[in-house]
Amino acid sequence: MRNESPTPSPEQEEDDFLCSVREGLRSRPKTIPPKYFYDAHGSHLFDLICTTPEYYPTRTETAILERHGAEMAEMIGISCTLIELGSGSAIKTPLILQHLDDDAAYIPIDICDSHLQQSTQRLQTMFPKLKMLPLCADYHQLPGHAFKRYASRRQVVFFPGSTIGNCTPEEAVQLLQRVAALVGPGGGLLIGVDAKKSPDVLNAAYNDAAGHTAAFNLNLLTRMQCELGAQLDADQFSHHAYYNETHGRIEMHLVSRCRQVIRLNGESFEFNAGESIHTENSYKYTAREFRQLARTAGWHLRSTWHDENELFNVHYLSQSASEPLQLAR
Ligand code: AVJ
Repeated sequence: MRNESPTPSPEQEEDDFLCSVREGLRSRPKTIPPKYFYDAHGSHLFDLICTTPEYYPTRTETAILERHGAEMAEMIGISCTLIELGSGSAIKTPLILQHLDDDAAYIPIDICDSHLQQSTQRLQTMFPKLKMLPLCADYHQLPGHAFKRYASRRQVVFFPGSTIGNCTPEEAVQLLQRVAALVGPGGGLLIGVDAKKSPDVLNAAYNDAAGHTAAFNLNLLTRMQCELGAQLDADQFSHHAYYNETHGRIEMHLVSRCRQVIRLNGESFEFNAGESIHTENSYKYTAREFRQLARTAGWHLRSTWHDENELFNVHYLSQSASEPLQLAR
């Protein structure tokens, strides 16, 4: 395992966090970008969310990868360079890696360095011959070209978990275009996308009874207190998540229970009772909608796999139009 990560210094990270929070609290409606959920504690809370009975995406996608992983590996090319965006604990990754050749390479990219190091070590133990190059970075700041060291092999981005749902559709098209530039003309993208479904199922998934999603959302406030010295009363905010059918997205908010002020770096941010900080969007796409989005970004759909209830889709897209098209099953 190599580590040549341009790991951001703690000061740099704190700076980014401060600037984003300040800017987000100055805007109307107030917002904070979801990437700040994932400090060490937040990443742990996210893992807990994934084990709740209500949060179906993780286990559904895992079942799809278990069932079709061999076929997926065949399609992406067993000697490829697999680049995982937002790899986190990388729990699903072995379901693909186990079908790759020893000369394949794996580049996990994640914003949380502790999670990245731990999961890469675990994977390297499982797959000792695979070359691994962990990169601590925000996947929104991808290099505009292939990773030089492994450029000779087909570059395939693995983007599971429906993380693309955090982008607006416009941002998603841009991200897909940047991924296209990264993998180059022969490259591919294996991406998991949560599907539209009954609002009851969606609402339950983001309001688990154990309260892990609420803790995950509220952890942003704790981070602001600990890392930025923000003065606020976290108990006076509550977790609110609901499916916005008009926009086809889950929205997560931190709603102020009362009139109050957050003080941050000499600045005061006033809240009315009921006023919220919008902390996350999680867009849902039918298979058709996502194919259209991918096409807009210049990708060719190769195959789509889903569970029997069509709760979740995994798509394989490629940059070249020449490979035979495999129809969705
Ligand atoms: C990691 C962005 C896919 O939107 O379902 C889970 C994050 N937020 N529960 C999602 C999340 C609340 C998750 N993504």
